[in-house]
Amino acid sequence: MPASLAALEPLALHGGPKAKPTPYATGKRFVAEELQQLSEALDQQTLFYASGKKTKEFRERFAARYGVAHCVTCTSGTAALHVALGACRIAPGDEVITASITDIGTCAAILLCGAIPVFADLDPHTYTLDPRSVAEKISPRTAAIVAVHLTGAPCEMDALGALARDHDLWLIEDCAQAYHAEYRRRLCGTIGDIGCFSMNDFKHISAGDAGMILTHDRDLAHRAELFADKCYDRSPGAARNPFFLAPNYRMCELHAAVGLAQLEKLDGIVARRRSYGDRLHAGLHGLPGLTPQRFVEGGRGSYWFYLFRMDEKVLGPRAAFVKALAAEGVSASDGYVDRATYLYDLFTKRQGFGGTDFPFSLAPHVEYREGLCPTAEAIVSDCVKLPVSEWFSEEDLAQTLVGIRKVAEHFAGTARA
Ligand SMILES: Cc1ncc(COP(=O)(O)O)c(C=O)c1O
Repeated sequence: MPASLAALEPLALHGGPKAKPTPYATGKRFVAEELQQLSEALDQQTLFYASGKKTKEFRERFAARYGVAHCVTCTSGTAALHVALGACRIAPGDEVITASITDIGTCAAILLCGAIPVFADLDPHTYTLDPRSVAEKISPRTAAIVAVHLTGAPCEMDALGALARDHDLWLIEDCAQAYHAEYRRRLCGTIGDIGCFSMNDFKHISAGDAGMILTHDRDLAHRAELFADKCYDRSPGAARNPFFLAPNYRMCELHAAVGLAQLEKLDGIVARRRSYGDRLHAGLHGLPGLTPQRFVEGGRGSYWFYLFRMDEKVLGPRAAFVKALAAEGVSASDGYVDRATYLYDLFTKRQGFGGTDFPFSLAPHVEYREGLCPTAEAIVSDCVKLPVSEWFSEEDLAQTLVGIRKVAEHFAGTARA
């Protein structure tokens, strides 16, 4: 049924027919290729990254895919960010500017260096760092910017790069949600000093849990390698003499094996997500009360998920809107996170290491309070999250768009023959 006619049906919430009567398509992400790789890894009779072949091969392949000289592997996206910051020698009391909506892992990595997360506001439509806000937050203590490509949408990297250059800051990209995202024909993760990735179980590709960093710089790569492995130098003939403090974030051969099989699928996963996401994005334009996401000029998202904003003055409360979508069979949730990152207790109560206020005590001037980043707080309160999956079908796309249109037109009072 054409979307315009479906919109005239009563809402499913009120007993009308569902816009999406069939469940979303799913599939198996771990199959014979992963088993084969795991079996080969086990057959080596070692699962240690420096002795086996899988981690080495994974690093080479991931770096080659991105056209970057060095890849270092570790245990998670959080670990990757910690390793990146450690490689940049971020020190206690340094300030690191990052996005006010992100996974807590981004901030944990900063705090684990004893450094201070300083939150910048976001662009209202790309949901990524607003370079003007970043510029305002730079202080003599700022050491780095962590640019989060949220939802898989690229940040405004030219402007952030210029700020980093002008103020002599490290620029680290958090690509946990952004495999193959592009900014002006460059891959996100290759533009700043270091790109960080996660293979946790929810990302484009999964090894259960794992992380990677990419860098063009040999010295950074070497320090990252040491930082991820207790500062043990595994190169042949190297003396064992840890000379700085470093955790053990080693990825083992089993994770690398699964990662290798997953890498083979990444092009297809991104292509299918893009095809679905681009058309979902296009289909949301022109609906009453909805503002689709925007991408920076020359930016191409890779759709870990999709966020749009809704105008509650036009559509009424978000919770009711999402409930009506659910009744139609359309998968949607009221927002991505329930608050801007700096409003978690960790920040507002300044609870750091071992129940003390360290490292926050080093930066009494840095505030974490409501109203700090008004645009981010507005996004949190009025955005709606739509899932994107490589398994979703043409029917899923068509029915989802019909359902959103139907609910939007009913709630806006514009559903008319
Ligand atoms: C933007 C972002 N950064 C960092 C992380 C942390 O990754 P991990 O869960 O692998 O530690 C995530 C994970 O959800 C994320 O989405």
